[in-house]
Amino acid sequence: MVKITTICCIGAGYVGGPTMAMIALKCPHIKVTVVDISQPRIDAWNSDELPIYEPGLDEVVKACRGKNLFFSTDVAGAIRESQMIFVSVNTPTKKTGLGSGKAADLTYWESAARTIAAESKDNKIIVEKSTVPVRTAEAIEKVLKRNCSDASVQFDILSNPEFLAEGTAISDLTAPDRVLIGGKIENEAGQAAVDALAEVYANWVPKNQIITANLWSAELSKLAANAFLAQRISSINAMSALCEATGADVAQVAHSIGTDSRIGPKFLNASVGFGGSCFQKDILNLAYICECHGLKEVADYWYSVVGMNDYQKSRFVRRVVSAMFNTIRNKKIAMLGFAFKKDTGDTRETPAIDVGKGLIEDGAQLAIYDPQVKEDQIAYDMEGMMGNITCYKTAKEALQDAHAVTIMTEWDEFKSYDWKEIYDVMQKPAFVFDGRLILDHDHLREIGFIVYALGKPIDPFIKSAEGA
Ligand code: UDX
Ligand code: ADP
Repeated sequence: MVKITTICCIGAGYVGGPTMAMIALKCPHIKVTVVDISQPRIDAWNSDELPIYEPGLDEVVKACRGKNLFFSTDVAGAIRESQMIFVSVNTPTKKTGLGSGKAADLTYWESAARTIAAESKDNKIIVEKSTVPVRTAEAIEKVLKRNCSDASVQFDILSNPEFLAEGTAISDLTAPDRVLIGGKIENEAGQAAVDALAEVYANWVPKNQIITANLWSAELSKLAANAFLAQRISSINAMSALCEATGADVAQVAHSIGTDSRIGPKFLNASVGFGGSCFQKDILNLAYICECHGLKEVADYWYSVVGMNDYQKSRFVRRVVSAMFNTIRNKKIAMLGFAFKKDTGDTRETPAIDVGKGLIEDGAQLAIYDPQVKEDQIAYDMEGMMGNITCYKTAKEALQDAHAVTIMTEWDEFKSYDWKEIYDVMQKPAFVFDGRLILDHDHLREIGFIVYALGKPIDPFIKSAEGA
């Protein structure tokens, strides 16, 4: 088995950056180089303002950068000097062509593989970090073998899916539930490659938490894990609609079912919808793979998880409009939070985009505040709609003279605001639409707000407005 002393990672994004920083921290004997084709991204990784906001990441990067952690655009050089190459490039949903809107776009992956093939002069262990369709390793192996000029170079391909969640990446990486390594364990070289990677993680992860599997199982496990997690959210969100219709309280239902040890309490928070770069993309990809194998019923089952998520977002918009007397035209609606979850500045697939678009289609003027999302990102996400949007640097300004406030992200700071003071500067009746169930609704009602809390009994005021 080779002892790994040099690692590089292609792709300095949300996954590659933090993961490599953790490997560098825990393995001072390994030189880790993170490379990317994007010069601004690499410049940011080498600066005091990292390109992603992630609690605890600054400290880890600062502890290793320049010692055994390097960020560079010299992709070829890093490939040549590394024994092990992680590939952590983006794999978005295809926008055109076969499988459009469902299948994973492997353009970036293939291009990375071609560069690896062109630059490799000795044996390499290639580690799939980005989530990929099942059997990608097989396709990549072909690209590597056919494009490498030196036939004696051996590529061992591993699948090592990343399970970290944004906002908690550092703690997830420090103490992962498990590390999964898939490889060709049926042959000696494959097993040796798996062992080499397992040894890297063994520097800080207990051995019994390092699981090995065959390549296809590892690739599928990642898609399955995300599909199961998203399915839990869609299930509790489906319940939230029924709770509103019947007068039950979704938080109480979640608590009651979560105490069943077979169900467990996590990931049962009803919300305006799940977002993030993984859930929707991976489910669509999973369902597409099912379709390709003739498993229509299985595909439809998973598509319905995404369908429920879309329903939840549009249901929220309908509530806002109907509660406000069926007209929000030219009303200032404050949107607190734009990121897809707290403790990140990431807006990929955030429910705030669809909800924002829905509200604007009904004529609203949105006043957006998010502690981490910059205005240019919002302008990118809401292209063509900025005429109806103003971004603010403080919540106070966003709330001034607003008719309503919608909570899109569960940022902790929203809980600590002086809601009485906010009430005083808003138009009356002042509405709160809590899409994350984070505020103290009884307290808000005492102040005078009309409150819609997702999945909770509906206020008589809203009921009568909707009946009107
Ligand atoms: C997810 C997986 O959790 C992680 O293992 C995988 O590696 C990448 O995808 P991430 O998307 O970063 O991670 O965040 P996650 O915490 O899973 O949240 C995803 C979305 O679901 C967020 O929009 C979040 O607000 C929402 N969510 C989560 C709920 O609405 N309710 C919940 O109970 C939990
Ligand atoms: P993730 O959330 O999966 O980490 P990101 O989009 O944040 O995804 O990061 C992927 C990174 O991969 C981007 O910074 C992109 O510039 C980089 N990338 C894509 N293709 C290549 C390539 N062929 N070589 C080097 N870097 C690449």
